[in-house]
Amino acid sequence: MKVGVAADHGGFDLKERLREAIAGDDHEVADFGAYELDPGDDYPDYVAPLARAVASGEVERGIVICGSGVGACIAANKTPGVRAALVFDSFSAHQGVEDDDMNVICLGGRVTGFELALDLVRIFLGASFKGDERFRRRLAKISALEKEKRG
Ligand code: RB5
Repeated sequence: MKVGVAADHGGFDLKERLREAIAGDDHEVADFGAYELDPGDDYPDYVAPLARAVASGEVERGIVICGSGVGACIAANKTPGVRAALVFDSFSAHQGVEDDDMNVICLGGRVTGFELALDLVRIFLGASFKGDERFRRRLAKISALEKEKRG
């Protein structure tokens, strides 16, 4: 699977380790940065390009990481077509894909250790959307929300 990764300084180390590990699992990994540890960088600068790549189909799934995972998740969900969630447990890592077609997983580099993060990512990447009518109906309602005019 083609997978994008992105992180700010809070998630940089975890991104580097996860990128290496999932490439070893035979995924094709596109790195959207950061490419070096910069304590002054801003997560939207890396997350938004990844989110656009997921929405366009350039990559199938995304992994975004900041210190808590919260900011990266908020930023990722601003791109229509992205369904990102902050995940801490294995159930959500697969059920979020199976029922909600989650296409971006968000992690906290200061919260979740490498081994658990790798388990969560592997579960996320191994899961598939079930496509039941009720799941599609709910996703259609989310797509409609994305089209609502603001302001
Ligand atoms: C950066 O210090 C930190 O605020 C950021 O990585 C993230 O935790 C935001 O949600």
